[in-house]
Amino acid sequence: MKIVLPEFESNKISKAIDNARNQFDKLISKQGKGNDFLGWLDLPVYCKSIIDEIKEAAKNFSEGLDAVVVVGIGGSNLGAKAIYEGLKPKFEKLKPEILFAGNNLDEDYHYELVEYLSDKQFGIIVISKSGTTTEPAIAFRILREKLEQTAGKEIAAKRIIAITDREKGALRKLANEEGYKTFVIPDDVGGRYSVLSPVGLVPLAVAGIDIEQLCKGASDVRKALYEDKSDENIAFMYAAARNLLYEQGYKVELLVNYNTSLITFAEWWKQLFGESEGKEGKGLFPASANFTTDLHSLGQFIQEGSRILFETVISVKQTKNNLTIPKNNDDTDGLNYIAGKKIDYVNKMAMQGTYLAHTSAGVPNIIIEIDKVDEYNFGGLIYFFELSCAISGYMLGVNPFDQPGVEAYKRNMFALLGKPGYEEEGETLRKKLKNA
Ligand code: PA5
Repeated sequence: MKIVLPEFESNKISKAIDNARNQFDKLISKQGKGNDFLGWLDLPVYCKSIIDEIKEAAKNFSEGLDAVVVVGIGGSNLGAKAIYEGLKPKFEKLKPEILFAGNNLDEDYHYELVEYLSDKQFGIIVISKSGTTTEPAIAFRILREKLEQTAGKEIAAKRIIAITDREKGALRKLANEEGYKTFVIPDDVGGRYSVLSPVGLVPLAVAGIDIEQLCKGASDVRKALYEDKSDENIAFMYAAARNLLYEQGYKVELLVNYNTSLITFAEWWKQLFGESEGKEGKGLFPASANFTTDLHSLGQFIQEGSRILFETVISVKQTKNNLTIPKNNDDTDGLNYIAGKKIDYVNKMAMQGTYLAHTSAGVPNIIIEIDKVDEYNFGGLIYFFELSCAISGYMLGVNPFDQPGVEAYKRNMFALLGKPGYEEEGETLRKKLKNA
């Protein structure tokens, strides 16, 4: 993995990298904020010890299933979804096919999912650390009922894996009562840092993803970033650059990809940085764009709109396949000048052209280069971003491991729904809405 930064005044960038290095030391010596949530730092090492159990469980679980529904939201869903959607064949239907639920409250989505599963043998992987999150709880209640009706309670219990807290929460209680196979989310690992724990590894193993390589990629990057204390450490460089850009007045970081395999990865990245840094009135707003697609929509704004954003571009060196542009005798479309070239060559030229256009219009670019999109590189990228995010959050002066802001909507929703204990608040909110 390589990183290229925009031009900064040399004393400023070296001071910022120095700061990043100090924050890293604070992080790994557990002297910083939120230091009871640092279990993720060692997940690339820990995950090696659970791979065999996970692979075995995944094999037994998926046998004979047409579909597996992964139920979870936020940190309990985005990592597995990002890697699965990045690595699955783009047009082939897999067996078992992996579906996602519990990450929305869309009635039509749930209805159509249940209908779709009607004639299928399916299983459920339900993931919730707290075991009480509303969205996955509703989806799981509906899907479990369907599974028990169609397969019978005994078989249904064998077709459910629960990934949750060691002892707390409603899901742990239910799993113990019903005898589901369970995996534990370590106490000291928060949702958005949990992809290399059973939260990500179990669904990915069921999907046939090579979780050993995923962990190896993360572990190699961890080793490299822990050992390299120089100014060339890419996590220090990235954390330093984005903090400097923030200080210079940029308020939005746009994660850009040129490969469709990285589209969902941006959703994981947005949660990681958004929930870790967006607090106390501070933080870069994490957004994403898929190029070249979005060059035909957002491209106009990036080139000429408000100067509020910088781009972090993930550049992929090699494609998995080769496909060249054919020569055509008529050349009516005028493309013969690139006949014989790989499509990826055109993509790279689009990338370079865009880099020149955007940077000259005042949009700084950070470039992160990976070799290819595979398990190994995903593992490395995940660990790199997690470590950079923690360092960057400390540089900003916030606790990157809590998310107090996500409670406000939940409280209001519970009050409006009439959840026991929230009656009075519900009354006040209904009056507020009436007068609004
Ligand atoms: O990062 C986080 O902590 C959150 O996004 C949680 O993962 C998300 O809210 C889901 O929580 P839970 O796993 O408790 O259902």
